[in-house]
Amino acid sequence: MTQDEMKKAAGWAALQYVKKDTIVGVGTGSTVNHFIDALATMKDDIEGAVSSSEASTKKLKELGIEVFDLNSVDLIDVYVDGADEINDRMDMIKGGGAALTREKIVAAVAKQFICIVDNTKQVSILGDFPLPVEVIPMARSYVARELVKLGGDPVYRQGVVTDNGNVILDVYNMQILDPKVMETKINAIVGVVTNGLFANRGADVLLVGTPDGVNTVTL
Ligand code: A5P
Repeated sequence: MTQDEMKKAAGWAALQYVKKDTIVGVGTGSTVNHFIDALATMKDDIEGAVSSSEASTKKLKELGIEVFDLNSVDLIDVYVDGADEINDRMDMIKGGGAALTREKIVAAVAKQFICIVDNTKQVSILGDFPLPVEVIPMARSYVARELVKLGGDPVYRQGVVTDNGNVILDVYNMQILDPKVMETKINAIVGVVTNGLFANRGADVLLVGTPDGVNTVTL
């Protein structure tokens, strides 16, 4: 089974968590693209979606799913998104696709976070995947120096501008032993919009695509 087939299996498995007549929070990435394909099969049964990126919005609209502005929505029942790494406490690193800030905002509004991954994303300690940090452009060098003080090696993601007009620093060589503390520390650096640690609000349900089927994990 290929990695993409495992992503697809996880993406389609998330459909069982979508309730009729609700607004669904939709993340970003190749795994979520499979979920959006699945969601399109019940587009007449849901009210629509709130999207975490321009890319997901485009795909949702192409498939005939209405996309709402988050400011016009009080409640999102479920938020479905992928991850770059996830540990057994359901803490995640996200933002490989640079959509971390909008993802974190939509996740904050949702009652339940359903994380969909293939089995290569499960780790015991977060940090092999470089941690994305979204930064206001004029603060890039300052924030990079502060990230070095926290023990990381930040690298400017050349040529990438986020949907919010900001830049990304990818922080290498961080062994993240306490994800909640590190998330809070990095977010406290002036000029940081947010970082890709999703620990203070982690996943509630994890669906892992494996060669033997989809495993469901809850805490
Ligand atoms: C987007 O910014 C990310 O947070 C994605 O959710 C993450 O990179 C997972 O992407 P894939 O599903 O493409 O692996």
